Amino acid sequence: MEVIISQDPCSASILAARLISRLIRIKPDAVLGLATGSTPLNLYRELIRMHRVEGLDFSRVRTFNLDEYIGLPPDHPTSYHSFMEENFFLGVNIPHGNIHLPDGLASDVPSHCEAYEQAIRDAGGIDLQILGIGSDGHIGFNEPGSSLASRTRIKTLTPGTREDNARFFGKPENVPHHVITMGIGTIMESRILALLAFGEGKAKAVGEAVEGAISASNPATVLQLHPNAKIYLDESAASSLERIDYYKWVFQNKPAWQADS
Ligand code: GLP
Repeated sequence: MEVIISQDPCSASILAARLISRLIRIKPDAVLGLATGSTPLNLYRELIRMHRVEGLDFSRVRTFNLDEYIGLPPDHPTSYHSFMEENFFLGVNIPHGNIHLPDGLASDVPSHCEAYEQAIRDAGGIDLQILGIGSDGHIGFNEPGSSLASRTRIKTLTPGTREDNARFFGKPENVPHHVITMGIGTIMESRILALLAFGEGKAKAVGEAVEGAISASNPATVLQLHPNAKIYLDESAASSLERIDYYKWVFQNKPAWQADS
């Protein structure tokens, strides 16, 4: 686990965007796992800038999103389909057929989830998965108590997560109860994990995820078992870490051959 602490969300997002752009330059048909929420917005803005200004080419990139609300049609303003379209897909050149999100209107949810898993396998697996973290440690929509081996499936949101996401829906009652999310086992198969977390509200979940005991009570703690997980934080989200000075020293003193990885 590599913990990278930046002054602010913007500089952290630029570092994460560089990781992704290096991957795409080495592997133009890279498979990216994408996340929603306010956390990755600066990252998507930076990738769009790299596309426009530096010619970063997404024409062969394939994407799989982590999750979607059940019951929302793709063109619903608060669906994750709409979120991704507005905040990322409209700004880059990923062909429509290369984009995958769970279907919130699937009539047979278990079969749809199996097909989603199969599509990820058919693509050769996810090269790099972007993750945010809920204030309770959830990744994707894998709420506390989710099996650490879970696959793509239906989940029921906790009252806390519905409250956290109410700001997108006007009022809390409008937030759906059910979602489809990649499982924790699915996420863990990604070759690289890049988790971003910003702000005081994430400090406790991040502290547990990085330095606490591995437990389904904080699903993000499972990242400790991943061989290539990078955690991009701002100072506030890092504020409850005990080894904060060590992580900073490690990052500032990387051997030259490792500095770009
Ligand atoms: C939702 C998403 C998660 C995201 C979390 C945090 O629950 N399903 O993928 O990490 O929100 O959102 P935010 O980045 O807005 O704090």
